[in-house]
Amino acid sequence: KSGVPDVRERTLIAVKPDGVQRRLVGQIIQRFEQRGFKLVGLKMLQVSDDLLSQHYCELRTKPFYPRLLEYMTSGPVVVMVWEGHKVVQASRTMVGHTNPLEAQAGTVRGDFSFHVSRNVVHASDSLEGAQREIQLWFQKKELLNWDCFDQILTC
Ligand code: PPS
Repeated sequence: KSGVPDVRERTLIAVKPDGVQRRLVGQIIQRFEQRGFKLVGLKMLQVSDDLLSQHYCELRTKPFYPRLLEYMTSGPVVVMVWEGHKVVQASRTMVGHTNPLEAQAGTVRGDFSFHVSRNVVHASDSLEGAQREIQLWFQKKELLNWDCFDQILTC
């Protein structure tokens, strides 16, 4: 329906092992809360090779793939599902360019990183990608539908 924001769109955001090691989890969560998005799922885990190979299935032939797996399993990650109007697109903007050297100041990567192999966060790159990744990382019961008093400003 035109003019009515789809506040139920969801995306997957992960704080990668370097972000956890550097105590950046709180600041990253704060940016999404400040923007007005709604946290509907959150957990910390040591990721398995199996889960990562499904998550990064399109990258298996890339030369950096073994290093990416090693990096992503080097420590715990914090994975989250955020909900809100155009949250997929907005998150990509907030996270910044994949290569931190090209990321704008004010983005997570532009503010906290300088190399693609330690770029602090992952954000789903499309609506379809987000749906696939959320199903991969979370069980349905781990995602909560909680109510807001104002559907446009705070959901
Ligand atoms: S590609 O080659 O265009 O498909 O890759 P790209 O879309 O830029 O990035 C896909 C994910 O791979 C990560 N990446 C890397 N990790 C480690 N080392 C190197 N050199 C490297 N290059 C790309 C990149 O961060 C993307 O992961 P996510 O989790 O989506 O950020």
